[in-house]
Amino acid sequence: MRDSDFEFIRGLVYERSRISLSAEKRELVAARLGKRLRATKLDSISDYCALLKAPGAEEELANLIDVISTNHTFFFREIAHFDFLRQTIVPEMRARAAKERWSRFNVWSAASSSGEEPYSIAITLADCMPDFPWQIEATDISRRVLAKARDGIYKEETLGKMPRETVLRHFQKGFGPHEGNFRVKADLRNRVNFRHLNLLEGEPPFREPFQVIFCRNVMIYFDRPTQEELVNKLTRHLVPGGYLLVGHAESLTAIKHSLQSVRPATYRKPLSS
Ligand SMILES: C[S@@+](CC[C@H](N)C(=O)[O-])C[C@H]1O[C@@H](n2cnc3c(N)ncnc32)[C@H](O)[C@@H]1O
Repeated sequence: MRDSDFEFIRGLVYERSRISLSAEKRELVAARLGKRLRATKLDSISDYCALLKAPGAEEELANLIDVISTNHTFFFREIAHFDFLRQTIVPEMRARAAKERWSRFNVWSAASSSGEEPYSIAITLADCMPDFPWQIEATDISRRVLAKARDGIYKEETLGKMPRETVLRHFQKGFGPHEGNFRVKADLRNRVNFRHLNLLEGEPPFREPFQVIFCRNVMIYFDRPTQEELVNKLTRHLVPGGYLLVGHAESLTAIKHSLQSVRPATYRKPLSS
């Protein structure tokens, strides 16, 4: 890949998603662009850059962000967060709900990818809070992964170590041509609202604040000023005392924020702020 092409792609990706591509990512970027060259039937990355510069490139820009961003995820990833949700956050918020007259428990999965994270939250809440209303907002910049998430269909092998009874309670087993697939049951799917959102563009459209925000394994792709901007934006959408859960490889130590560190990868907005 020519230097000028890499610089162009790097600038465009940053402008559109704020994903920060360091020089070491050059080989990875070239490999991922290979997919788009095949799809667009172009011969070189330079031709592909020309396509992106031409009028009407909006759709291809979305495809570019799709191949560059990493969508890797799985059910109950970093399970300590789900244990903490069940054992600590839910009981604490239930106690506050009565006093503070909350009508609903709101959770946001801010980089939901193909749905494994928000559905893991939904399964946890359905099982430990059957008697209180809750709703999950799930957002991602990639329309491709959001379409998969809305379908809620997963291969059996991706259900991982989920106990059999959990799978039977919350998934429909596919038969015939759908053998080997499991679909999240409609009652759970209906409580997860998927929408397209660039976390760094404008203000998220939510009216109600969240008791918990999961923003995991996405900040790692952003530079420090962007991480700071994002954490402060997310904080504004938390109730006082609400929790922000980040990926275990992500730390907020290098950025300025107003959250309290509670345990690894777990932060809380002060009760009075
Ligand atoms: C590695 S996945 C993490 C999925 C899940 N949170 C987890 O921890 O398993 C990162 C996701 O962040 C999304 N993403 C990247 N940049 C984004 C942005 N600016 N706004 C919203 N989502 C973004 C990607 O499309 C991808 O699906």
